[in-house]
Amino acid sequence: MKPSSRPVRWGVLGAARIAQRFVTAARTVEGCEVVAVAGRTPGKAAEFARQWELPNAYESYDELLADPAVDAVYVAVTHNFHAEVASAALRAGKPVLCEKPLCVNASQARSLLQLAEERGLFLMEAMWTRFLPAMRQAMEWVRKGKIGDVRQIRADFCFQVDYDPEHRLFNPALAGGALLDVGIYPLAFSSMVMDGAAPREASSLSLPAPTGVDAQTGLLLAYEGSVLALLTCATQARAEQRAEILGTAGRIVFPGYFPGATKVELHRYKEKSVLTRDFPHGPGGGFEYQITEACTCIREGRLHSSLMPPSESLQLAETMDRIRAQIGLRYPFESAPAS
Ligand SMILES: NC(=O)c1ccc[n+]([C@@H]2O[C@H](COP(=O)([O-])OP(=O)(O)OC[C@H]3O[C@@H](n4cnc5c(N)ncnc54)[C@H](OP(=O)(O)O)[C@@H]3O)[C@@H](O)[C@H]2O)c1
Repeated sequence: MKPSSRPVRWGVLGAARIAQRFVTAARTVEGCEVVAVAGRTPGKAAEFARQWELPNAYESYDELLADPAVDAVYVAVTHNFHAEVASAALRAGKPVLCEKPLCVNASQARSLLQLAEERGLFLMEAMWTRFLPAMRQAMEWVRKGKIGDVRQIRADFCFQVDYDPEHRLFNPALAGGALLDVGIYPLAFSSMVMDGAAPREASSLSLPAPTGVDAQTGLLLAYEGSVLALLTCATQARAEQRAEILGTAGRIVFPGYFPGATKVELHRYKEKSVLTRDFPHGPGGGFEYQITEACTCIREGRLHSSLMPPSESLQLAETMDRIRAQIGLRYPFESAPAS
């Protein structure tokens, strides 16, 4: 798509639960329209289109990808299909915003990045947290040295849901498990603070669900520069889902649900001060910032966002591969151990 001022017209691949949030948020973004949805489950796309008043519904992803009225696609399928569906979109010439995690493993992520590069098309993992004003504020404080040198990063994304072996959170065929589904948030948070650097060392312990995917995982990462990260994720334990960045002169605290942060605090040790900044979500629920970024990049002909580049998504996939090798989690469709 050439640089232009006309709206970016999105197609949604997967009549997914999360796609409802995408459509709600997209409607609050200037220069953005959702014009089509595709769902492979019979009748689902038509019902989604009716409910959300979208002009077009397709029962195959290929039909949506062939629609010239679609400028870009949002990939909202289960993890196991991300690489395949995002690749099909790129081959059809559509820029891609793909739900997290970008891919199940680094091998898939590498191929996807290469394809996007070859085709000269935008690709971004929909790590919505990264684009929230509260996160941007925190990173401004870090970069301005408000907390001194970063020493530790802490983040938890733990929740508890009823166990259902067929659910995408537990089903190995859908690449379920806490690490890929929610562990990606603390990992991406840590990576954001470290400007996308890979951890030098990564240790993990995990407790499996009956299906064999991880139900709880604890991570300990060490980065160059004497920074330690303590991260947890779970689908079978409730936590406050806080995050903190500890520095030599102070600390930054996300006191509530950090993946959708609306508040951030700057604690300074010497001054004994606490500065709190609130960033309440509007009707877009916080999803709108990533959509705005994707639309801007696509309109300007940029191939990636500097805030969440695909190279960092690859680094995250490599880190998750390292962790999965430690906890012995290989998905049934993976022929070789995660590498
Ligand atoms: N950013 C966030 O806050 C957030 C929150 C939740 C989820 N997510 C991400 O969004 C993606 C979708 O999650 P979701 O909760 O929306 O998933 P979902 O509604 O359970 O499923 C998404 C789509 O995947 C396909 N699908 C689901 N189960 C399947 C199965 N057993 N076999 C074959 N296809 C199946 C269906 O596609 P069709 O419609 O084509 O039939 C379905 O509409 C995941 O990548 C997840 O990590 C992000």
